[in-house]
Amino acid sequence: MCIPKYHDYFEYPEAMSSTIVFNPCSAGLRGDFQPPGDKSISHRAAIFSLLADGVSEIRGFLRAEDTLATLAACVALGAGVSEDQSGGLTITGVGLSGLSAPKDGRLDMGNSGTAMRLLAGVLAAQSFSCELFGDASLSGRPMARIIRPLEQMGADIEAQEGCPPLLIAATAGLQPLAYQSPVASAQVKSCLLLAGLCSGVDISVCEPALSRDHSERMLAAQGAAISVADSCVELTATAVLQPLKMNIPADISSAAFAIVAALIVPASEITVRNISINPTRARLIDALRAMGGEIEVLNTSEQGGEAVADLCIRSSSLKAIDVPPEWVPGMIDEFPVLMIAASLADGVTRVRGAAELRVKESDRISVMVDGLNTLGVTVEEYADGFDIHGHRGFRFNGGCVDGHGDHRCAMSFLVAGLVSTAPVKVSGTEAIATSYPAFIEDMRRLGAGVQV
Ligand code: S3P
Repeated sequence: MCIPKYHDYFEYPEAMSSTIVFNPCSAGLRGDFQPPGDKSISHRAAIFSLLADGVSEIRGFLRAEDTLATLAACVALGAGVSEDQSGGLTITGVGLSGLSAPKDGRLDMGNSGTAMRLLAGVLAAQSFSCELFGDASLSGRPMARIIRPLEQMGADIEAQEGCPPLLIAATAGLQPLAYQSPVASAQVKSCLLLAGLCSGVDISVCEPALSRDHSERMLAAQGAAISVADSCVELTATAVLQPLKMNIPADISSAAFAIVAALIVPASEITVRNISINPTRARLIDALRAMGGEIEVLNTSEQGGEAVADLCIRSSSLKAIDVPPEWVPGMIDEFPVLMIAASLADGVTRVRGAAELRVKESDRISVMVDGLNTLGVTVEEYADGFDIHGHRGFRFNGGCVDGHGDHRCAMSFLVAGLVSTAPVKVSGTEAIATSYPAFIEDMRRLGAGVQV
């Protein structure tokens, strides 16, 4: 393969162990730390910097497998990337029409659905062909949701029954599109915005509910003619994107594990710093507070067009809630860890309208229900959600559970081990490196007992 490896550019994080054990924690979690940079924003910072005219300066870029796959792909498409001594990146863009074909015509997206779906939008508009491929999990994920609208724009994409690899043919140009998306998906929305941007045509996308809006915020900061009303976004053909200068805040989806851990481990008090609390991402805080979780939002400010804050979390007595279906898109990645909190919340926590969980890095409903059953929790599974029968004061059974190569399920099961009758051993934990290579180090710093 000729595509660049991540470590041609950066010191790559150490491989994650395939089995990790968390011990019950009686002393409480304590401390103050900043989780890693936001994954969604990091992917976009790399891609939008590639497409800008000039040099972007990005601080806080997430060094994890998924985002480094995107960065390596941007380099293969022509971006110049260098890292300063304090870890900041400078990314020299090639402009909206200056991309070059990757050397052997293929790009490895690893485990990342965001990398594949966003870059498919960029590549569908190019005058060269390219293949996008990924690992076994990514090769089973649905791509018809982007292929269909891209084909309506005139793109030519071949897939294997709607799944990767994607063979994206060269094009002489795409047509404008006004698209009504059947799913609330920021990946679909961003893919189409990128296809419109790179082919110089107008695009509008309406969703059933507003999905995360990082692309819209970044494009506005780069001078694109973009407007948003309710859950519709309109992008008028844009000739030039200005380079970015931004500090990427910490990822609420990564912070979620320490947040839930501090709520459920007695005698805990932690502070997580500089967290992105973008309203399209922060529903977990609303859900946990509605469950009785003590979460204080402090030092709110704005950073690179995104709302950020420090969060102070104390151990709390939790009660069950019905999660309103309209909250689902705003916490779509946090359901595995919410299920851990719900197991210790008095009553039945109900989630519906979350069928999207079945097409993430794993079928997260089925993987979490299986693992929770092993850990002694009563859960009922539905096509689009679950009911969890929780009890205050409950302790998970110790034992072995499989994270099925899904980073968020693996980290969620490990958090359960902190409130268990015996250690919890989780297999399939290598995938934690896709989003949060420092997870073990951060949890140890808070007082978790971990064996790797
Ligand atoms: C993401 C969007 C969400 C989310 C994923 C990251 C993004 O996926 O689950 O982890 O960065 O755009 P969908 O667009 O499929 O909802």
